[in-house]
Amino acid sequence: MAYITEKNLTDVVLKRWQDIPDPRLKEVMQSLIKHLHAFVREIEPSGEEWFKAIDWITRTGQMSDNKRQEVILFSDVMGVSMLVDAMNNRLDTGATPTTVEGPFHVANAPEIANGGNMAKEAPGIPTFVTGKVRSLDGAPIAGAMLDLWQTDGEGLYESQRGTEEPWMRGVFRSQADGSYSLRTVAPIAYTIPMDGTVGELMEQTKISHMRPAHIHFAVSAPGYHKVTTHLFQKGDEYIETDVVYGVKAPLIVEFEKKSGGKAPNGEVLNEPFYVVHYDFILQKQAKAQAA
Ligand SMILES: [Fe+2]
Repeated sequence: MAYITEKNLTDVVLKRWQDIPDPRLKEVMQSLIKHLHAFVREIEPSGEEWFKAIDWITRTGQMSDNKRQEVILFSDVMGVSMLVDAMNNRLDTGATPTTVEGPFHVANAPEIANGGNMAKEAPGIPTFVTGKVRSLDGAPIAGAMLDLWQTDGEGLYESQRGTEEPWMRGVFRSQADGSYSLRTVAPIAYTIPMDGTVGELMEQTKISHMRPAHIHFAVSAPGYHKVTTHLFQKGDEYIETDVVYGVKAPLIVEFEKKSGGKAPNGEVLNEPFYVVHYDFILQKQAKAQAA
């Protein structure tokens, strides 16, 4: 056996870790060792710095559970969540692009009739969203499922409100002509949780910890690639600096302000409201898989 030196150590470790029957795990471990060693060689940490890093990673894991996921948050602010999402959703130009799901989706949202209100008593400016679900060739998709979730007008999701009943989420279906219509309230920009280890790190930077206002959508229909995405409010001050890198140009939409009157779903309001129009363009599944 060769004596270990600073110079040969990486090669010795790489050779040892070749002994892995699963070819994918072998590929992953070889790459991990190569890049991890290169990183450590580049930064040359002192022993004190290395233990500080170990302590940070330990605390990040310890504060994660099924409600609070600090490891995912770290992946998000490093841009890795968006990179994995992009690589796994290489859709054709013209198809509605995906973006990160984030930690606030709750399964089994209540089904709400077309034109219905998912905000109920939630605070915020009434907002009416309408549009169509279409395929890339323009054909309307009937019966598509639109699963929505978002903050209320005070920037809080259901899990942050701690309500018994569903809060700011709902499932809508596209109609025979592919159209959908719903009422909600305008979401507002919010900060990622800053009371954990990721916040501790962010506080040492000048990076914005805000996410621009957005509504989450997961749109699915049999035979089509499911699109988990957001619609962002055009003009939001954080649109260029989203802390999790979720903004893509086709997902920025105008929230058109109306002073009152008849809303797209037929309701008449005596207060200001927003109208948002957006068509979701889905790509056939076979094509997405072949890409
Ligand atoms: Fe969100």
